[in-house]
Amino acid sequence: MGNKFVMVGGGSTQSPGILEVLRQRAKELNLTDLVLYDNDEERVSLLGQYTKMYYGETGSPVHVSYTTDIEEALKDANFLFMQIRPGLNKQRAIDEKICLRNGVVGQETCGLGGFSFAMRVIPAVLEIVAKAQEICPDAWILNYTNPEAILSEAIYHEFPDAKVLCICDMPVSIEGAIAKYFNKDIHDLTFKYFGLNHFGWWSAVYDENGQDLLPQLREDVLTGKIDTLLISNEETTEDQYWIDTYKRMIQLFKRFPEYFPNCYLQYYLTPDDMVKEDDITFTRGDYVMQGREKRIYEECRRVIAQKSAKDSSLHAGVHGNYIVDIAYAIIHNTHERFTVNMMNHGAISNFDVNAVVEIPAYIGSHGAETINVGEIPTFQKGLMEMQKAYEKKTVEAALTGSYQAAIEAVMLNKTIPNYNIGKKVLDELYEANKQYWPELK
Ligand code: G6P
Ligand code: MN
Repeated sequence: MGNKFVMVGGGSTQSPGILEVLRQRAKELNLTDLVLYDNDEERVSLLGQYTKMYYGETGSPVHVSYTTDIEEALKDANFLFMQIRPGLNKQRAIDEKICLRNGVVGQETCGLGGFSFAMRVIPAVLEIVAKAQEICPDAWILNYTNPEAILSEAIYHEFPDAKVLCICDMPVSIEGAIAKYFNKDIHDLTFKYFGLNHFGWWSAVYDENGQDLLPQLREDVLTGKIDTLLISNEETTEDQYWIDTYKRMIQLFKRFPEYFPNCYLQYYLTPDDMVKEDDITFTRGDYVMQGREKRIYEECRRVIAQKSAKDSSLHAGVHGNYIVDIAYAIIHNTHERFTVNMMNHGAISNFDVNAVVEIPAYIGSHGAETINVGEIPTFQKGLMEMQKAYEKKTVEAALTGSYQAAIEAVMLNKTIPNYNIGKKVLDELYEANKQYWPELK
């Protein structure tokens, strides 16, 4: 029997990259059945029709279908790839603007943009995981949905025994850039990384001889030999946001040279610069809507109208390959090393045992076994503790509808300077998200 894969949020603009990798690697995954599921009928029908033609005309034996019926989608599923976005990028842009107008970070995973997204997405994702526990309890759920940091905290606590892995492609993307800098194959390097999702650091990068390359990278940065890393992720090499972000990541490393930072720390350590550089009339959400979103659905419409995908092609990049690599490791029990979000349970010895952290793990057919990190230094630990408290309070607010929990979460977010601003942004976000957030009392 072959494997049935379900793309939950199959109508998403992030789907095409994954669909292409699944097509190319179907045989090694023993993939025979692919279902695009989404509650957005128009989008899933566009991408679903496109994918059927594209797979068919490229000779793929995989059976492709699409549906808005979750029960039908989940029946007999072996893998769920989940990435959903209640409110779409439209709501993302609204949140960004509310935050920026008040002088604070609006990014969709950091700052209060992330808080707002979490309030929309937590109930929706938990509902899907609950459904999966009912209909296909043996299926593996690989979750890419953002804000992954907060969401993973909710999922692992609500469903401690479910077969879920919460992942993000940012660590592997940056590792690819580091490997490229040293002219190495990423598979020959061993990365020591710890933190929370979009909030972590590399403490060492070992080459195949056991030599740590991080001191060399540090020296090259501190002496001014380099001021950026080349982006290894083909999807983003020409995207000015990512070009600037990689530059700022090197700048952050220069300012805090102990460990190499995940680029998303720019929103916490230099929030004022990030707000200044953002364009309130054209935010990242706007950029994605007018770029990727428009391009993808227009291409679907074109292909559907001409009844052939012969002159169309999708692009396989890091994002698609990473999630498929993990599915592969589960199917073939490879025990390969990946960076994932998992319960700490002592892996970071001086951090909350009951908190989700982003650390390396070996992945096999039984899931992920985390690797011991040991003690982490005071600076990173202090930042992580406040951020973790913020994440936990956000989950509480989403699950209980407590306004008090919400305002406490907001105050724990490092991007919020004081109560007056925190409360004002919270209230404005709530007003703009009435149809998506749980009711707050
Ligand atoms: C990286 C992050 C994801 C994030 C994406 C942003 O891949 O790891 O968490 O969603 O970048 O993409 P976008 O183009 O939507 O800003
Ligand atoms: Mn991510």
